[in-house]
Amino acid sequence: MRNFLSVADLSPSEITSVIDRAGALKLGAPSDALAGKVGVMIFEKPSLRTKLSFDIGIGRLGGRAIYFSPDETGMDVREPTEDIARVVSRMGDFVVIRTFNHSLIERFSEAASIPVINALTDGEHPCQALADLQTIKEAMGGYTGFKVAYVGDGNNVAASLALAMASVGGSLTIGSPEGYELPEDVLAQARSIGAAHGATIEQVVSPEEAVSGASIVYTDVWASMGQESESSVRKKDFTGYQVNPQLLENADPEVKIMHDLPAHPGEEISVGLLDDSRSIVFDQAENRLHAQMGLMDFLLSDRSDR
Ligand code: NVA
Repeated sequence: MRNFLSVADLSPSEITSVIDRAGALKLGAPSDALAGKVGVMIFEKPSLRTKLSFDIGIGRLGGRAIYFSPDETGMDVREPTEDIARVVSRMGDFVVIRTFNHSLIERFSEAASIPVINALTDGEHPCQALADLQTIKEAMGGYTGFKVAYVGDGNNVAASLALAMASVGGSLTIGSPEGYELPEDVLAQARSIGAAHGATIEQVVSPEEAVSGASIVYTDVWASMGQESESSVRKKDFTGYQVNPQLLENADPEVKIMHDLPAHPGEEISVGLLDDSRSIVFDQAENRLHAQMGLMDFLLSDRSDR
């Protein structure tokens, strides 16, 4: 039984095989990996792409999804997380959780006896990173020989992206204001994974330096879910970190733009850039479906060739 709480829960070769499988499923390869199985989705934060893509993806693989909204389960509020994990394990076949503290999903998985998939915590967004890799592979033909820049908050999305780029031997430079860098332990973990695969994972302060020569420029909101009260402070602290045409002049002339959405146009990305011809943002959003189908096909299938 395997969980997917972090990108690092899959080996680099498993990650590339999930992305290859995602590509095949996107092209219409059949799979009934979840036939007769029930996926229980417990979400403590809002969601559009993640809820939609898991619900549709579970159905396309022959399974059934049951969704609990933020006010329904009350992990550690209505009842202990461990009790919820034990009950859900008696009835469901796997769980998809979106919550705040990463430690809560770890506690859940320790008490559960069915696989747990991380659909976003404050620490990581590993399903997003799988879709990011699939999108990068589609746009660039692979993962190496070019630079990816991430400009903005060293948050959950950046953490999973760093681990993912390290696993495929890519080159990633993160540009964040002081105090908003990737956590030290995540940077060290990414560098350690990447060392064996020829990856370079850099953290810099200057956004111009981050995007210099980059073939992909990626950004995310400055205040993530749960940080709404810090919004005005962050707007000041992230001044100069907007991805806009002027910043992109430092990048490769063929640069592609990525964003995990939802976006705040006028803040981390200039108005109109999501719809620019250089944007691959909506391919990236669609790939949430295919990448997670690839993941579930890999993680949950009973097929004997796994
Ligand atoms: N950083 C974002 C990702 C949203 C998909 C958040 O956690 O709010």
